[in-house]
Amino acid sequence: MTQTAAARPLTPATVSEAFTQRVGTAPEGVWAAPGRVNLIGEHTDYNDGFVMPFALPQRALLAARRRDDERWRLVSVDLDEEHELGVDDLVQGSPGWQSYLAGVVWVLREAGHRVGGADLVISSDVPVGAGLSSSAALECVTLAALADLYDLEIEPLERARLARRAENEYVGAPTGLLDQAASTLCRAGHALFMDCRSGEVEQVPFDLAAAGLELLVLDTAVAHSHVDGEYGERRASCEAAARVLGVPALRDVTDLDAALAALEDEVLRRRVRHVVTEDDRVLRAVELLRAGDVAGLAPLLDASHVSMRDDYEITVPAVDDAVTSARAHGALGARMTGGGFGGCIIALVEHGRAEEVGAAVAADQTAAGHPQPRWFSAQPSAGAGRV
Ligand code: GLA
Repeated sequence: MTQTAAARPLTPATVSEAFTQRVGTAPEGVWAAPGRVNLIGEHTDYNDGFVMPFALPQRALLAARRRDDERWRLVSVDLDEEHELGVDDLVQGSPGWQSYLAGVVWVLREAGHRVGGADLVISSDVPVGAGLSSSAALECVTLAALADLYDLEIEPLERARLARRAENEYVGAPTGLLDQAASTLCRAGHALFMDCRSGEVEQVPFDLAAAGLELLVLDTAVAHSHVDGEYGERRASCEAAARVLGVPALRDVTDLDAALAALEDEVLRRRVRHVVTEDDRVLRAVELLRAGDVAGLAPLLDASHVSMRDDYEITVPAVDDAVTSARAHGALGARMTGGGFGGCIIALVEHGRAEEVGAAVAADQTAAGHPQPRWFSAQPSAGAGRV
């Protein structure tokens, strides 16, 4: 559609050519890892709860080749930037896009995997700062490439966990497992239902077209970030509430009314209510998808948004207005997706109406003084791998 995120062609061949130009030899291969949309299950992952993302066609592509020294050359085609690092430069808390790649080298070595040097040339069309996991795509594609190049036997779930560790311990963002699991484990045509405590996953068929539907993703262009304080603050509140309630994590709250009665702090009560009801919505959503009832998701999307807005307090006016506008223009259900404080909304619309609803919401957004959004119709796509 007219407002897709990719403004330029991004193919394995273009990234491979960029590699050859920069490095002077051809890469050994090209790997891909996607961004994601979280269909439902927001801020439940670090509470040991349930999530249900799917992978986007927008992805990071990485052309790579081993080196015989212990140095890593990291090239961003998009930013026309290059960094070369040695072992001593792999320092936690390093800033910049390159930390997502360097963090993966660091975490693999920390975990005892034998990873030598590499030239890595990357390009991505996952929108940055939109809550679509552009950073997880960088991490997961780096992990996929290094694991293949250095014959590391690492199970997919463990790959996701390592990539998350890179984000938590090297980049310094205290996120859960959602993004890296989605980028690594998703399959085309499916949503990924995951129990974030056990790591158990189910690939759930998610056929929008067969249901006569489309999923509009609209980026409000209000950038969000995880490295700031709000995300960590929400996480700390959940941990504090779990301590008061005497449970290992909020996922273990089985009687919401009793839990709310046991908490004196009104803010903690709201946070707990969001997490517990959101887990329940994911479980209901997976039942619906197993039964092929995609339209049945609509009220759950609406309820999820209200819960994020009123109880978890992670939405902003541009996001709330976009959801209201999408519903007013005929979306069956809509919610913010991702970590919050900006980023994207998703809206379930009748097949063939995504473009029209996207344009109508964009007009409302600019009339209300919000930034000009971008939008596209999402297709559940494949997770990380060699291409
Ligand atoms: C961000 C984090 C995820 C998850 C979501 C909220 O995307 O990276 O781990 O917590 O926010 O669901």
